[in-house]
Amino acid sequence: MSDLSAAPTALRPRLSDAQAWKALVMHHAAVGRVDLRRAFAAEPGRAARCTTSGAGWTLDWSKQLLHTDTMPLLLDLARDRRVPERISSMFAGERLNWTEGRAVFHVALRAPAGSTMLVDGRDVVPDVRETLRRMGLFSEAVRRGAWTGATGKRIRHVVNIGIGGSDLGPAMAYQALEPWRSRDLDCRFVSNVDGNDLSTALAGIDPAQTLFIISSKTFTTQETMENAASAREWIIASLGEGAVGRHFVAVSTNTARVRAFGIDPERMFGFWDWVGGRYSMDSAIGLSTMIAVGPSAFGGMLAGFHAMDEHVRTSPLESNLAVLMGMIGVWNSSVLQLPALAVLPYEQLLARFPAYLQQLMMESNGKRIDDHGQRVGWHTCPIVFGEPGTNGQHAFYQMLHQGTTVVPMDFIAFRTAAHQLGRHRMLLNANAIAQAQAFAFGRTADEVRAEGTPESLVPHRTFPGNRPSSFLWSEELTPGSLGALIALYEHSTFVQGIVWGINSFDQWGVELGKALAIDVIRDMSDPHLKPAHDASTSALIRSLRTKAT
Ligand code: F6P
Repeated sequence: MSDLSAAPTALRPRLSDAQAWKALVMHHAAVGRVDLRRAFAAEPGRAARCTTSGAGWTLDWSKQLLHTDTMPLLLDLARDRRVPERISSMFAGERLNWTEGRAVFHVALRAPAGSTMLVDGRDVVPDVRETLRRMGLFSEAVRRGAWTGATGKRIRHVVNIGIGGSDLGPAMAYQALEPWRSRDLDCRFVSNVDGNDLSTALAGIDPAQTLFIISSKTFTTQETMENAASAREWIIASLGEGAVGRHFVAVSTNTARVRAFGIDPERMFGFWDWVGGRYSMDSAIGLSTMIAVGPSAFGGMLAGFHAMDEHVRTSPLESNLAVLMGMIGVWNSSVLQLPALAVLPYEQLLARFPAYLQQLMMESNGKRIDDHGQRVGWHTCPIVFGEPGTNGQHAFYQMLHQGTTVVPMDFIAFRTAAHQLGRHRMLLNANAIAQAQAFAFGRTADEVRAEGTPESLVPHRTFPGNRPSSFLWSEELTPGSLGALIALYEHSTFVQGIVWGINSFDQWGVELGKALAIDVIRDMSDPHLKPAHDASTSALIRSLRTKAT
């Protein structure tokens, strides 16, 4: 455990004491909430002024609830909070994760060969490239059928066992990169300790043709270890103990535990303590992705990450996508006090992207204590949710349009599609554009009346509008554009953490439940034990124990 006196309090005052914050709050009090109809009418160039591009992505933030002078004030706040310096510190490998005493260096995972990225004076790029090289060799061997199972049959099924950051990124990318996948094998993802997850993944597949990747940074996570043990039994039951070595590989930072599980460290792909779980899909945790799409496409994804890293590292604040997105999020959460964010990918292949962002954003910034150890006085991380368009339109958009809670939205779209299905892409994108328009400008009661609507229905058919959204789009969903998109959200999440003065890279909030589960598991496992918890917990243990045993 690191010395907590390493907290970066000396660097900055609390956000509430920052002059730039006070200026922003006063600005909001003075001008009130923007009216998007009026703002667009008053400034014909608003869309052009509020459209910014970088690393293959374009962000139209003109439909956010910002007055003309709001973004300059937000950027003053970013400067005041030393956002540029903090971004530089991250790229310099500094120990920004001060509550755990670790550097935050996922940007080194996608640094090109030959570049230099130092942690504690040591260049980590050679280690990163060496791991990529080993992953590449292994992936190619599996893809070619050169790496076989114990009986000599080629591998047809790859099962990634991991949870949180050891699952969400690979599962999301596997779906997103469907057009790039090998047709000779499939990947399955098991995360939940619920046996239904593993048994569904294994149903009907041949153990002799199945490779398990046990993905766990710590190699101690209960869900993953339980699933890994059951998978091991499944292999042994069919192929014998000696088969384990051909059917299991590990991705971890914990060599000792990997060895204890029975996996030779030769078949372990490592990463480093400066890679946070939710920032790890471009490390060896991406092994399943690499096996699915091949080392070259995986390299394309890393290049996309790196292109966005470079955009964020080198662009002035005014044209820096991560800073703009991050500061818009600060405005929405902390000034307008809007508690949620809907992520709306108009791309079916990004169906798991909102779930991926839930961990990235909510595990990073779902915190209320700042680096002075004080409770912050406003919303920090929003509640993140979402579904691919157009499915969301027929589910929760009713609430987004006419509900009592205003929910900011991120639309994500691609101009073209990998498929060749006629008008589908045009229809999809037309829906995205029309929805963003409807959210921003609504429909007034007079407009509804003018359509001949009976007076009793006018209030029901009126749309308030002024529902803020950003529209983020790229040419096509490719490994590169996916990498850049993920990096953009990583960095905008970081920008928000900097402004709020919270550590975006620890996750103490997941610990209590894990610790309490130890006693509950003990009490659940033994029907003779008398649970001695609070009355509700004890009753639940007795009820569910009876049914489970
Ligand atoms: O949810 C807590 C967490 O520690 C995440 O940060 C992490 O991604 C996940 O558990 C899995 O951890 P591991 O890779 O060590 O199994």
